[in-house]
Amino acid sequence: MFRRAIVRQPAPSVVGGLRAEDRGDPIYDALLEEHGAYVLALIRADVEVSVLPPLDAYPDSVFVEDPALVFPEGAILLRPGAPSRRGEVDEIADELRSRFDRVLELPAPVFAEGGDVLVTPDRVLVGLSARTDEAGARELIACLKELGRVGEIVQTPADVLHFKTDCSLLDDETVFVTKRLARSDVFAGMKTVLVPDGEEAAANALRVNDVVLVGSDYPKSIELLSGLGYDVVPLKTTEIGKIDAGLSCMSLRW
Ligand code: GLY
Repeated sequence: MFRRAIVRQPAPSVVGGLRAEDRGDPIYDALLEEHGAYVLALIRADVEVSVLPPLDAYPDSVFVEDPALVFPEGAILLRPGAPSRRGEVDEIADELRSRFDRVLELPAPVFAEGGDVLVTPDRVLVGLSARTDEAGARELIACLKELGRVGEIVQTPADVLHFKTDCSLLDDETVFVTKRLARSDVFAGMKTVLVPDGEEAAANALRVNDVVLVGSDYPKSIELLSGLGYDVVPLKTTEIGKIDAGLSCMSLRW
């Protein structure tokens, strides 16, 4: 269960956010509406949400999950692999120090981003990617150990931004996962629901308490998950998706 979350208001510079493929800049006002609906969905799911002020110097700072990880036991300040995002860590550090007794830090020069981290009930999966290197994953696992958590290094599929771009936890034993990631057997021992072909971007759904947030541009996924009994809340992610957003990246939850 999540009781609290931190999000960051998108700055006007968000339209220049990083992206793997250029599908045009997002429309700022429409992106703000999508972000507002996301915050409302968290509140409706019984989460107390703190909205941090926008940071125009950091276009991708709306994705608060990448510079840090939070657990009830403490927080970990990460080191984004994207050079333009490194300063986001200092910008969120004080907020986390004010909320958590224990705040650990990854040491330079390693890299790890929260988008590569999937927390399951018994382990924390850390995906290697262009944003998370092996040394970063190892340091992160050492921090996780200090917080009493078991970490495991896994592989993100080639050319995929983050590990969680391709998967999300639907409940304590079930993962929503793309076929390309499921092939790696990383989820052996868990139940898997495969993302329908052509809707791979829907894999980054977000379970929050009793509901599962899913991009409204993915009707086959919504129908599939609803049919399996999940209480699906469709959310528009068309604009934020142009800068490779996922639903999980836009909040830190604990
Ligand atoms: N635009 C999200 C990222 O690349 O970090």
